[in-house]
Amino acid sequence: MGERRLGNVWITGASSGIGESFARLIDGVADNVAISARAGQKLDAMQRDGDTLISFPLDVANESAVTATVRAIENRFGGVDLAVLGAGVWQPMPAAAMDLSQMRRAMDINYFGVVNAVNAVLPGMKARGGGHIVIVASVAGYRGLPTSAAYGPTKAALIHLAETLAIELSGCGIDVTLVNPGFVDTPMVKVNHYNMPGLMSTDDAAKKMLAGIMKRKEAVFFPLVFTSLIRLSNILPHRFYYWAVRRVTGAGKRR
Ligand SMILES: NC(=O)c1ccc[n+]([C@@H]2O[C@H](COP(=O)([O-])OP(=O)(O)OC[C@H]3O[C@@H](n4cnc5c(N)ncnc54)[C@H](OP(=O)(O)O)[C@@H]3O)[C@@H](O)[C@H]2O)c1
Repeated sequence: MGERRLGNVWITGASSGIGESFARLIDGVADNVAISARAGQKLDAMQRDGDTLISFPLDVANESAVTATVRAIENRFGGVDLAVLGAGVWQPMPAAAMDLSQMRRAMDINYFGVVNAVNAVLPGMKARGGGHIVIVASVAGYRGLPTSAAYGPTKAALIHLAETLAIELSGCGIDVTLVNPGFVDTPMVKVNHYNMPGLMSTDDAAKKMLAGIMKRKEAVFFPLVFTSLIRLSNILPHRFYYWAVRRVTGAGKRR
């Protein structure tokens, strides 16, 4: 399927980084763009700047708030054609200093935030016989990485969820696109005090996402070289993979 109208779009994680750039990119191109995140004032400012941006603040971890927000968007616009689910948090956590509250919070926002959103848009999309769900995961979900014990499993779960939904929901006319960024220069990565290979701008990331969405691609990866290397690491035996990651990152040294 080729170029198409975007229709009514709902974006979570729209107040910052990749989501904000994507919202600004499609402003005026889509019919309506519902923008969600917790920072209501930031969303209101974006609404004032935009032609088609409309602020719907929420916490994606709050199931009933997500459902109520989606119903409000549907009532206002007549339905959600495209849901771009990008809300997420990243905080490094050394495995030896395991913090269960951080791990639960990451799962509540990154994974169940998407689950809550899919659960809320599905009935409307099924009733209208189609729709498009975009799930922003990360290549960090493919293999274990240092300081990623809270974040990585949430993204691994999202990759699995997106693939499962894609396989099944085609029967309802609903497309699912899995987006797996490498490093993108957003407030999220400011805590990373290491070299981030292939770091790209949010504008470039948003353009790559839009190109994949327009083509209804099953999966979108960017930047290509870095994300391809990470995906290729899946074929490495565990022992060699661990050795290589320890060598590159310095992780796993005896204290
Ligand atoms: N940057 C990267 O290198 C990179 C790489 C791979 C994957 N990703 C993924 O890309 C997505 C966007 O990240 P980003 O880099 O653009 O980060 P960002 O600039 O920190 O943006 C994160 C967005 O998520 C929203 N958010 C966080 N918690 C939320 C909650 N409980 N409810 C509603 N919204 C919430 C934030 O808004 P509020 O704080 O206002 O709620 C913000 O709009 C994330 O899923 C991230 O994991 C990023």
